[in-house]
Amino acid sequence: MKMTRRNWITRTTILGSGLGCFGYGALVEKRWLDVTRKTIPLAPDHAALDGLKIAVMADFHFDDYGDRSLIRRAVRVINEEGVDLVCLPGDFVSTDPASVIPLCEELGELRPRLGTFGMMGNHDRVHLTSAALKTLDRAGVRMLINESVEFDRFAISGIDSFCRGNPDLAGTIRSVDPRKPVILGWHEPDTFDTYADPRIALQISGHTHGGQICAPVYGPVLLPVCGKNYPYGHYRRGLNSLFVTRGIGTLTIPARFLCAPEVALLSLEA
Ligand SMILES: [Fe+2]
Repeated sequence: MKMTRRNWITRTTILGSGLGCFGYGALVEKRWLDVTRKTIPLAPDHAALDGLKIAVMADFHFDDYGDRSLIRRAVRVINEEGVDLVCLPGDFVSTDPASVIPLCEELGELRPRLGTFGMMGNHDRVHLTSAALKTLDRAGVRMLINESVEFDRFAISGIDSFCRGNPDLAGTIRSVDPRKPVILGWHEPDTFDTYADPRIALQISGHTHGGQICAPVYGPVLLPVCGKNYPYGHYRRGLNSLFVTRGIGTLTIPARFLCAPEVALLSLEA
């Protein structure tokens, strides 16, 4: 088939734009750090959480083109903010458990008032070894796998990956003092549809990467299983709230487009 000049220009323009977008997504946007500040209004039943500040980072996928300087900047932002809790709702790695070692050299610098808590992502559930979990623990990241930690006025609970693990929400919440509202970390956001427990004030999730590659107006081009209903942001249903971070790393494609890496700083207000 003979290519006309017009066809040649069209194809070259499309190819050039595609390469340009990929270059921008890989070399520029993937290295940005968006700091999202969000106020989460609380129902009167959850007033005990008033004033709590929580930093959220997820989906490091650190062996998938992880960027140490990006994590270092995020840790500095969190420490300068002075938060009560850091919540890391999963996918520390894609496949290589050894990649938690350099990641933890950065995460070990976090200095929240009450603690840093991690949850298992679907990738972590398959690939994180017991040695990798110990590395996280030594860095001060307390992994909550169907477990809770209780403070004076509230509890934080972490549930195992819905896609790949053995999640036990009911059993985990049952063990918490019934007078305390619960902050819940659960990697996959669509699990928000699986309960109506009024004690759960806020679920914090990741997994979707906010789509990672977004189209103008249309939004996320592709979303994962268990991450289709709540791609990004704050959602409410009755007394329950959900916050989904778009994460800080990349998976498979080393680029982000209209969906920059994020550290979220949540302020809970009655
Ligand atoms: Fe995930």
